[in-house]
Amino acid sequence: MEGRLEREAGTESWWRDAVIYQVYIRSFADGDGDGIGDIAGIRSRLPYLAALGVDAIWVNPWYPSPMADGGYDVADYRGVEPVFGDLDQAQALIDEAAALGLRVVLDIVPNHTSAAHPWFQAALAAAPGSPQRGRYFFRPGRGHAGELPPNDWRSVFGGMAWTRVTEADGSPGEWYLHLFDDDQPDLDWSDAGVRAEFLSVLRFWFDRGIDGFRVDVAHGLAKDRTLPDLGVDEEGLLRAPDRSSHPHWDRDEIFEIYRGWRAVADSYDPPRMFCAEAWVSSPERLSAYVRPGLLHTAFNFAFVRAPWQAPALREVITTSLRTHACVGAPTTWVLSNHDVSRHVSRYGRPDQRDQTAATDARSTAGRIDVGLGRRRARAAALLMLALPGGAYVYQGDELGLEEVVDLPPEARQDPVWVRSGGRERGRDGNRVPLPWARTGPSYGFGPAAAWLPQPPHWAALSVEAQESDPGSMLRLYREALRLHRELWAGAGELRWLDLGPDAVAFARGRGVACVVNLGAAPLPLPAGEVLLSSTPLEEATLPSDAAVWLRTRPA
Ligand code: GLC
Repeated sequence: MEGRLEREAGTESWWRDAVIYQVYIRSFADGDGDGIGDIAGIRSRLPYLAALGVDAIWVNPWYPSPMADGGYDVADYRGVEPVFGDLDQAQALIDEAAALGLRVVLDIVPNHTSAAHPWFQAALAAAPGSPQRGRYFFRPGRGHAGELPPNDWRSVFGGMAWTRVTEADGSPGEWYLHLFDDDQPDLDWSDAGVRAEFLSVLRFWFDRGIDGFRVDVAHGLAKDRTLPDLGVDEEGLLRAPDRSSHPHWDRDEIFEIYRGWRAVADSYDPPRMFCAEAWVSSPERLSAYVRPGLLHTAFNFAFVRAPWQAPALREVITTSLRTHACVGAPTTWVLSNHDVSRHVSRYGRPDQRDQTAATDARSTAGRIDVGLGRRRARAAALLMLALPGGAYVYQGDELGLEEVVDLPPEARQDPVWVRSGGRERGRDGNRVPLPWARTGPSYGFGPAAAWLPQPPHWAALSVEAQESDPGSMLRLYREALRLHRELWAGAGELRWLDLGPDAVAFARGRGVACVVNLGAAPLPLPAGEVLLSSTPLEEATLPSDAAVWLRTRPA
């Protein structure tokens, strides 16, 4: 609590070194027993989150939605999906979180609406060339009778990025753009009404006391309105654009939009914050989003992509810190989220090349060494929490959950699975509901079975099971988060320590150091007092795939 009070003084920039816990609402806790997580469930678990020691929660979209993409298809930006609760419950959550010292960050989805959004319904009913259609990208098709899509852009989820509509008179009509599912039509951000609407939506939630927004597909809002062909076959959620000026990703016109958003956030007391979800081609491009007057922070996906290898990790840390420092923004660190293969599974793969998405249904699933991955995940947690900047913990990271690769096909809901005809297994395996208890129809997730089946061995990974085990992942996270406030938050820059090619080792501010051993052989440790280690230590050496926090100078 003391750390918290001290930090209240710097409340305007709390996000600079905050640890933010991602609540994937459908899978966190089910309060009403329908098998789907909800706001009541989150409220019941707020004391757990406060005790875990995080600073804030980020809640994935909770707005009214047909759930074509887990809520990233928003039908009403000012409401709450009835399956999740209502506005009163949302307000109660925000207030109760604040009372526990937890900040609340919501998810805003500006690149596209749901096809069920009144704007899109109005566009379908209106004629070609109408202002209603002008909020989206409606275009005539190519070919003799407009039977071919307007260009060759591909949906991130597979297939073409265009769908043809039937006009009011029953004739085949224009096509509309959707970079994701066909139930997620892209908005045209050159439309003044679109811009004004989102400023108003930001205010709607800021007025209710939320502390910030995670900005979904922050790199997608500006399109080259001449809609040129890409000329290349572009598929895959996680492949970064590699052209200097891509027609629909990461275009410079985007920044003007965020300048306006920042002004809204800054008009509040305390100012509100943004975190960009921007999949871009380089750390330099990422830092463009967090320049002064634009967004505050951005997810550091280069860290997610880095293999479990010392040179690669040192490189991504150095580059991330340097590029962010150039623009005066803090770096963030993230290991997992609802879109990527959980890091326990990634780090347990024999092949450490980028397999972030790991959506290929035929990939190395069977050869994942989950035990090894979990050991590395313990070390990775200590590495991440010792680095300068903010950190994101995805729900279940603190339990060491792995990606569930063998979900029954009929249980899967991800549009990636559906649109690829089962060729790509999609992201459901990273969204399996949390196990809270050793027993019960959904291991304490709720009173009924969960919307995705949980593996029976997760009983042993449940919060209940880990609470009483001092060697558990949960206990490691709790201790690490407690010490994070004391040792690392605001501790200043990082100084690399040379402990050989297989080590990632650095010291910060108050005489504390973090050492990670990525080599096969035990690593001799520098002199110091052990504050926390990812595995029990013998003598003054650090085993393979382990990390330690040391006090190298007396406090
Ligand atoms: C973001 C979300 C992802 C969603 C996509 C489309 O990448 O994190 O879950 O499918 O945007 O909104």
